[in-house]
Amino acid sequence: MNILKIDNVSFSYDKEKLVLKNINANFKTGIIYGIFGRSGAGKTTLLSLLAGLETPSSGIISYKDQDISKINNDKYRSTNMGIVFQSFNLLPHLTALENVILSMNISNIKINDKEKKALALTLLKKVGLDETKAKRKVLQLSGGEQQRVSIARALSYDAEIILADEPTGNLDRDTEEDIINLLTKLAHEENKCVIIISHSEYVKKASDKVYFLANGNLKEAQ
Ligand SMILES: Nc1ncnc2c1ncn2[C@@H]1O[C@H](COP(=O)(O)OP(=O)(O)O)[C@@H](O)[C@H]1O
Ligand SMILES: [Mg+2]
Repeated sequence: MNILKIDNVSFSYDKEKLVLKNINANFKTGIIYGIFGRSGAGKTTLLSLLAGLETPSSGIISYKDQDISKINNDKYRSTNMGIVFQSFNLLPHLTALENVILSMNISNIKINDKEKKALALTLLKKVGLDETKAKRKVLQLSGGEQQRVSIARALSYDAEIILADEPTGNLDRDTEEDIINLLTKLAHEENKCVIIISHSEYVKKASDKVYFLANGNLKEAQ
């Protein structure tokens, strides 16, 4: 199913230089996408547009055929997509478990506290963190473990779309492979639409579909 669609989108921050020029793309569930391009090419900008954090200067981005500039953005971001950042963006003094529960509270899911805790523990287990690690402060976890927490957080309200901006940029090669394998499984086994921005060859190989962004143009790799 087409879940996100980019239709003739252009974008500039300052009305002068276009960062994105009439780009088009379709994203489906069950597929992992890799988006590549040099630093400054506009990859993060593209992700911000998909997340509804920026609005296209022209053109339309739609989520399930609805123009996202016309839907409630906060609700869209907090329920329909999970975002994973290079810098993890976790609250360091809270435990892994508390970070996941916090994001459930923000997305306003309708389950009680006990159920939230059980679900959070299940999700953390799914990404490879047992209960001992789940109850550790994020500060006391390794980089790879912290990125696992942020993936569990992205899954906490069952969003269908996972957007990841250089999720393995701060990780070593083996840890990178584990994290990308986890994201691949989410696409292939749980039918998520996973979009990863990266520089990594491993991500390129793992992606079902690869796009390149250069000079404001988005091109699909053949
Ligand atoms: N908030 C902003 N205001 C103005 N210009 C920005 C802003 N964010 C990014 N840019 C510019 O837009 C271009 C694309 O940036 P970005 O999307 O971050 O690239 P990438 O993620 O591919 O490295 C760069 O020239 C950058 O300087
Ligand atoms: Mg970037």
